[in-house]
Parts: sequence; C-alpha cells; structure tokens
Amino acid sequence: MNNFKWWQKTAVYQIYPKSFLDTTGSGTGDLNGITQKLDYLKNLGIGAIWLTPIYPSPQVDNGYDISDYTSIDPRYGTMKDFEKLISEADKRNIKIVMDLVYNHTSNQHKWFIESKSSKNNPKSDWYIWRDGDPKKPPTNWRSIFGGSAWTWCDERQQYYLHTFAVEQPDLNWENPEVRQALYDAANFWLEKGVGGFRIDAITYIKKPKKFIDGEPDNKDGSISVHTMTANTSGILDFLHEFKRKVFDNHDIFTVGEANGVSADELKNWVGDKGVFDMLFEFSHLVLPFTNGEIWCYPREWKLTELKKALSDSQNATKNNGWCPIFFENHDQPRCINHFMPKNSDPIKTAKALATILLTLRGTPFIYQGQELGFTNTAWDSIEKYNDISSHGQYQIALNEGFSPEQAMKFVHFFSRDNARTPMQWNEKINAGFTSGTSWLPIHDDYEKCNAEIETDDENSVLNYYIKLNDFRKNSETLLSGYYEEIFKDDENIFAFKRSSEKSKIYVLVNFTLNEVKFQADFLKNANLIFGNYQENEKGILRPLEAVIFEEAVK
Ligand code: NOJ
Repeated sequence: MNNFKWWQKTAVYQIYPKSFLDTTGSGTGDLNGITQKLDYLKNLGIGAIWLTPIYPSPQVDNGYDISDYTSIDPRYGTMKDFEKLISEADKRNIKIVMDLVYNHTSNQHKWFIESKSSKNNPKSDWYIWRDGDPKKPPTNWRSIFGGSAWTWCDERQQYYLHTFAVEQPDLNWENPEVRQALYDAANFWLEKGVGGFRIDAITYIKKPKKFIDGEPDNKDGSISVHTMTANTSGILDFLHEFKRKVFDNHDIFTVGEANGVSADELKNWVGDKGVFDMLFEFSHLVLPFTNGEIWCYPREWKLTELKKALSDSQNATKNNGWCPIFFENHDQPRCINHFMPKNSDPIKTAKALATILLTLRGTPFIYQGQELGFTNTAWDSIEKYNDISSHGQYQIALNEGFSPEQAMKFVHFFSRDNARTPMQWNEKINAGFTSGTSWLPIHDDYEKCNAEIETDDENSVLNYYIKLNDFRKNSETLLSGYYEEIFKDDENIFAFKRSSEKSKIYVLVNFTLNEVKFQADFLKNANLIFGNYQENEKGILRPLEAVIFEEAVK
C-alpha cells in the first residue's frame, strides 16, 4: 500500500461549479461557494475536487466552449478567488483538478476568430477547414448534439468541423503550434498548483486521413461523428507527446474522458506504457443505447451486461493500470434512475450503488449530489431545459417520427440537466443554493433530500458514504486487493470478492425489487461489516439489499 499514489488512496469529488453554491445572489454558483464548503467535503473524506470548466466561455455548452484557456470566467470569480480555493483546499489536504477541453474551443476564442478571417492568416490551419458546396456538407457526419458536424463559414467560404455544437469548432491537432499552445495552457495551471487534469473528449482529437461518408444510422441519412472519428489510429502519438511535455515529473493525476475506448485497449492508455493515469471509459454507461447514442431508441439491458462492462475494466487493469470508478457525472442521468429498476426506494438504491462504487478496485469519483441520493428530474416542456444536447436529441426524436410527448420521455430519462440541478444544502428557499433566481430549477425533493438533514441523520445516504469511504481508505484489501467476480451469470445479484494478504471482502448487491436467495457457504467465516438494511441473513438478499462481508486471513 505504501507504493500507492495519493490519488489511488483517496476518493475524488466532482463539482459542477455553476450548480454548487452561489455566494453573490447571481443565481449561478461560484468559486467562493466552493471554498465555503471545503469542510463539508473534507468531512466526506475526499482528497481531490475535479472542477468542470471555469474558464471564460459564452456558455453554449456550459463552459465546455472555452474562449480563453488561462483565465477565470468572471461569473465564477477572479484568479485571486481561484488561488484562495487552492490554498484553502491545500490546508485540508484536498487538491484541485482542472478540466482540459482540448478537442475544440469556443467559436469566440481569439484563435478561431483569427482562423476564420481568411485562408492565409497565421492561424488559418488551427481548425479543420474543408472546401465544399454551401448546400452540401463535405460528409454526412452528425454532431454529437444533433445536426451536421460541418458548418459553412461565409467569411472563409469553407466548412469547419465541430464534433459537438456549431459554436465548438474542432482544433487541428496535426498542427504542432496548436499542440504547443495547448500544452502551454496546461503548464500554466500546473504552476498555479493544481493536482491534476481531467481531459475532455480526448478520443476525438485525431481525425481520419480521409473524410468520407458513413453508412447512415438515422432516417435523415446521417451517421454519428463518433462512429466515424472516435479513437482513430495515431491518436496515442499525440498523447505520448502531451504526457512528456506536460504531465511527466509532476505529482498529479490525469484522467482522460474516452468514449470509444474499450477495456481491451486500456493497456495502451493507462499503466506503464499508457498516456494517462486513469481513463473514463463508457461501456457501462452506454448500455441503454442502440447505435449512434441516440436517446429515442433506448434498449433494455441485462445486469450481466453491466457486470461484464465493469468487470472487463477491473480485469484489464488487474496487474497494470488503474480505474476511475464512476456511475455519475454532469452528462449522465442520476445513477439511481440509470441503473436501478423504476420505483426503487431512493435511499436503499443510493446506498447499494455507493457500496459498489467504494469497493471496486480503483479511485471512486463521487459526483455532487450523488452522496445525498439525488434523483432525476422531469420538467414538462423542452423550453425548460438548458442542456444543449436535450434540445438536439428532442429534435432528433421528432424527426424520427416520435410525438412531442414521447420525445419528452426520452429527455426526462437522459437529459444532462438531471445531473445539473443545483446542490441542495438545506430546507430553506432555493435549497440554500442561491438567494437570487437559480439558473436551473431546484429539484422538488429538496426539503427531504439535502446536506443539512442528512448530516444529522446517522442512517442517511451521506453518512453511509462517509463511513464506507473512510473504511475504504484504511482497508488494504479494498485499496490493493484483487477483484474476482462471483455469480457471473446471475441476473439479479452483482457480487465480487476482493482479496489481499490481510482479508477477503465480499460485496453482494441485489439489483431487483424481489427477495433473492443464493448459496452462501463461502460466507461461513465472514462477518457483515456494511449493509443498507439492519442485519442480514446469509444467503438472502432483500429488495435492493447491499452487503459487505469480511473474513480475516489467518
Ligand atoms: C464531454 C463533457 O463532459 C460534456 O459536458 C461536453 O458537452 C462535451 N465533452 C464537449 O466538450
């Protein structure tokens, strides 16, 4: 355990600053709000905070459209506030981790403004430009948020490529000047003392040599740009250079967001020969999708698929590499709704998922509100949604022939706003998030689901997270022990064993609303150490029951 790095021993907490705590009455959260809540986070036992982007941005995609990589957006505060956050966090042994959005910039970034101004300016080649007929984009690629991935620019009389929104033009990583400018920006934050980076949408930075049409996955003749460009061969050369020029020789961690990388490719991305310390791969999150990640064609998935997705990455990093364990982030439905049956008791469910999150091998990432048991929200009209992808996907559903009511159902389930409703601190007005008008409605369950109530309730979801996280930190078996799946083919129970020289830990979770029985001989000498019910009869799991047993090795 001694040769473990600090970021392997701790849990990381993800903050969506816009929705965390507003100290000015503006209706959006700010950096001073985060500083104010550091003791809450210390009490939760986390050692790092990943901040989603706080750089200047027109906010088309809530900060993932950056117009300046080395400043703070005034809506969040000043560079002084940021420095204060770093130093106050440091006093509590908490590191601040920044989000690097390097596949694209905002179309308001000065680099893009220059690039689009002509075909022969110094930055003309900093983005992906193609000739074409203004009425027919160069390929049939559909952007992730819907609509063509190409937008015509009158000024240059050319198209530019955008994997995401029209306002998020893709950078041209083939140009060494672009790469150096990005490395310089990351080094700027290292000098400020940040503890690491989450690297956004990284699988899209390398484009294919030839830009050609793909087989449509949609009635309008388009195909997802993801299918055509994600994880293109040659991408790792860029990332090795990135690592060499920025990450190496710093006591930080890096975690890449890598939709499109599968567990069997992990060895090239993490571990001794890899480019990052951890990789957010998506196989457990994309289970409800058919192809193209379109919301209106959801599919039923089986528990064995979820178990396989998680086990594959556990096994792939067994001897080399490390996993981030995550069930939520600012792009996903709340995990209670995502992974558990409809009408599940939220408290039992939240604890059941926490049980897995904090006992798999890897660094757990807790997304704000997850530790309180937040659930999805459902607003009645698309106008109430802020999330750009909800609007795009709603339109896709209508184009595919679904009624507005049906289209809204997809939005209710998948909308990224589910994860973005403000933090619920107390029972007071606006859940204590803001004294002004909140930028996004507060979830209507805030009177019973908030940090203040849960701090005082020893059986709350929050206190379950605190106790189990504390246990994990001090358990050699949970930190370093091997992972082995039990009851692999069972469609009701997710069960696994972690084992070290010290002990064997067994984790069992019932994913159904029924009582289930199992052969429990292997638990003969093990003691129950955690559970979301009081007591447990070995061999029986009540609805949504989660248990952790431990057996010392003699
Ligand atoms: C992934 C981020 O998590 C998401 O919020 C954003 O919209 C896209 N990348 C584009 O940057």
